[in-house]
Amino acid sequence: MTRITVKVDGVEYTDDVEPRTLLVHHLREALGKTGTVIGCDTSNCGACTVLLDEVSVKSCAVLAVQADGASVTTIEGLARDGELHPVQKAFHDNHGLQCGYCTPGMIMASCALLAENPDPSEKQVRERLEGNLCRCTGYHNIVKAVLAAAAEGAR
Ligand code: FES
Ligand code: FES
Repeated sequence: MTRITVKVDGVEYTDDVEPRTLLVHHLREALGKTGTVIGCDTSNCGACTVLLDEVSVKSCAVLAVQADGASVTTIEGLARDGELHPVQKAFHDNHGLQCGYCTPGMIMASCALLAENPDPSEKQVRERLEGNLCRCTGYHNIVKAVLAAAAEGAR
């Protein structure tokens, strides 16, 4: 076992993990962050996307030990004082979800995009989210939501 300390959604956690433990399993099983979901476990779908030191990563493609000393933001860390984050609100307002399974990853990837590029074109949004799969929406309303969030100045 290896001892790691990771700040997740603003709270520091120290745990002993197996060197092979994936970050997504650590988040869900050890820390109870079940808002981060697993769609494929093979780094294809993007459902497990979180921010690792502000960089968007697929947490099924990162070992928990690689997050030692880092800061992780999950979908559960976005809302403030009971208010949805502007990107969450934009997905809600623009019907950017149906079953919602892809939504945590879509929103985290969108937050990373807007942090880097606050005023993306539709093409840039589509390109940036190509690693996040949605089986329900046809993507159109997801793109609309990200553009709406950008127009609102969301970061
Ligand atoms: S569960 Fe990580 S990319 Fe699909
Ligand atoms: S809303 Fe169902 S997979 Fe995207």
